[in-house]
Amino acid sequence: AAIVEHVFQVKNVMVKPLCKEQMIPTVNGSLPGPTIDVREGDTLVVHVINNSTYNVTIHWHGVFQLKTSWMDGTNMITQCPIQPNNNFTYRFNVTGQEGTLLWHAHVVNLRATLHGALIIRPRSDRPYPFPKPYKEVPLILEQWWNTDVGLLKLRPAPLSDSYLINGLAGDSYPCSKNRMFTLKVIQGKTYLLRIINTALNTHLFFKIANHNVTVVAVDAVYTTPYISDVMILTPGQTIDALLTADQPTGLYYMAISPYISAHRQPFPAQSTTALIIYEGATSSSSSHASIPSMPEMNDIQTAHRFSSNITGLAGGPHWTPVPHHVDERMFITMGLGLEACPTGTKCPGELGQRYAGSLNNRTFVYPETIPLQEAYFYNITGIYNDDFPDQPPLKFDYINFKVNTDHDYKMMFPERKTSVKTLRFNSTVEIVVQNTGIITTESHPMHLHGFNFYVLGYGFGNYDPTHDERKLNLVNPQMRNTVGVPPAGWVVLRFIASNPGAWMFHCHMDAHLPYGIIMVFIVQNGPTPETSLLPPPSDIPQCSWDPKIYDS
Ligand code: C2O
Repeated sequence: AAIVEHVFQVKNVMVKPLCKEQMIPTVNGSLPGPTIDVREGDTLVVHVINNSTYNVTIHWHGVFQLKTSWMDGTNMITQCPIQPNNNFTYRFNVTGQEGTLLWHAHVVNLRATLHGALIIRPRSDRPYPFPKPYKEVPLILEQWWNTDVGLLKLRPAPLSDSYLINGLAGDSYPCSKNRMFTLKVIQGKTYLLRIINTALNTHLFFKIANHNVTVVAVDAVYTTPYISDVMILTPGQTIDALLTADQPTGLYYMAISPYISAHRQPFPAQSTTALIIYEGATSSSSSHASIPSMPEMNDIQTAHRFSSNITGLAGGPHWTPVPHHVDERMFITMGLGLEACPTGTKCPGELGQRYAGSLNNRTFVYPETIPLQEAYFYNITGIYNDDFPDQPPLKFDYINFKVNTDHDYKMMFPERKTSVKTLRFNSTVEIVVQNTGIITTESHPMHLHGFNFYVLGYGFGNYDPTHDERKLNLVNPQMRNTVGVPPAGWVVLRFIASNPGAWMFHCHMDAHLPYGIIMVFIVQNGPTPETSLLPPPSDIPQCSWDPKIYDS
């Protein structure tokens, strides 16, 4: 195994994907940022030099961080941010997983422009569990605002102006007509598309005119090969898919378009395009290209069919059978609620209220002085409470929510708290995540740090164990780190808490982080030094600033 070293210089630069020049924070001046390419088992060393005007952290989304949770890069959970003109070096092994992941800033809204691909190939002596592709093609899907990223902190976040593929908006937008990602292919060859949805707030449909793809991995876990004409990725999800150039020589568009399961406001429904050009095509003008017909913006059925049909490659590389015994069972309701606006701020709602998010009626509040994991490691009290409930405080009709009693009313106003759930080392945890219709119902992509979970089942309505439990897949469920919980529906997840540290479990719509759709698991140490959390590296950033700067 090798040591792979990178320097990430975070700096503000001017870019112009659409009609307006815009100053954005970048890594090494590019959007998207650099691609990291390692083999399973390598050690990755990234020196982050912060020459921007922002406090930053970098998170390695989906990387297990076995025993290195200090390197997880979560602002105020595993570390204080790296302040302007400061440096920090992330150092960790990438072991036990292969496929496509991403890295991104883990400070509210900076992920918009600080992100890139993280590709983990098999060790040199190990083949893919599918025919070797002729070429590999990263496709980084992004969301773009013609505005200062600082404004994205607003609640609710402003609508974006477009989506990008590898930094380019494509020819369906003004001012970007000639700036479109193109992929040249040779008839009969197969390409491995490594697709990453880095969008802050939007699930995306992805389609290629006249071509099917074969999904072979999701979130860097191999799947049973799954053939489809459309794909859907929530923010934070990745797909490895094979594309064979098996159509007549010519030009074909690929396109992404938003999937909005609750569209209360008009969203830009325009699709962003890239072009596939077969070698030998007589024209290279996109006016000759076939166009895919994209699903409707709220096509819940197509999204559900794709997501729930994928199964894991049981017995494949890095596969572990689903544990049948469960130690901890949790039922977590998720949704939007309301809270009073802080005094002195402008409130969008008429009643002096704004949206809050909740998991089991708790709105997560970030620690302000000491990162949560440091408080845990050094036994500092008063930073968090070990009291995240295993069940919602009240039972109710989660989906058809109507406020008609005091009891219902209580569910609309979650409690603000820094709550964690402590897990014994190696315990098996099952979580039913139940979406609710308290304010609105929409798909939320729940992301777990430090682990992959099995997705045992997806469904609509209120989860009913008597009917739904028997339908769970305990044989070859998909494994992932981010799951879209269906609108007005549920998922059942299972994972083994085999990695000590403080791990976030949160909605990966960035706009929902300040709403507090977050909780934290603390996984205790195992019985030996090899299964215990090490002390933090001596150069880990310290918090020494006005806490208001990183106010969620
Ligand atoms: Cu991709 Cu907590 O994030």
